[in-house]
Amino acid sequence: MTAAWTPVALARDLPRLCVMPVCVDGTQLALWRSATGRLAAWADRCPHRGMRLSHGFVRGEALSCIYHGWSYGSDGHCLRIPAHPDLVPPEAIRVPVFHAMESGGVVWVVTQATDALPPTVEGTPLRSLTVEAAVDWDAAGFSVSGPVARGQLSGMMVTILVQPLPQGRFALHALAEATASPSAQIEVSRGLEGLRRRAEEAFA
Ligand code: FES
Repeated sequence: MTAAWTPVALARDLPRLCVMPVCVDGTQLALWRSATGRLAAWADRCPHRGMRLSHGFVRGEALSCIYHGWSYGSDGHCLRIPAHPDLVPPEAIRVPVFHAMESGGVVWVVTQATDALPPTVEGTPLRSLTVEAAVDWDAAGFSVSGPVARGQLSGMMVTILVQPLPQGRFALHALAEATASPSAQIEVSRGLEGLRRRAEEAFA
């Protein structure tokens, strides 16, 4: 069985030197991008006292914890402990690291080893939004393959990448046709909000 890649964000929503929290397979992760643009997805828990690393800050190619400033290099290994500047941190102080990849303007993460690549998607990254209920893709006229749903919205073919979240919620990452004009993109964005409203009303 091949481990599945999960879409977690549109790439443009994670600029360099930024970190954000994401959830994959029920695991909270800190997703961040270094000064040179390298992506990383780590367990969202500092090995020191458990502070969320997604509250931390990126400097160069390292992510630092907001609490006591321990800083971690690209392989998750602790580089520096500010309270003990002369100490070389032991190898054992390490953040669990997962695979993150950018493809088609989308950031994908997988939490298990895999040789597979993320699904190929095309289009103009449009927006991400959270839905508090499951969308009935059949009723919406979409075809679904893995995390990829494709169908018409506001008269245009749209690709929606579905990311399961805890407590029955979902993040939807939408891509419009590559040729979509700015006004068409606005219409698709409104259509996406309508999709969300109908899903949440059906659930209420
Ligand atoms: S909890 Fe992260 S450095 Fe202390």
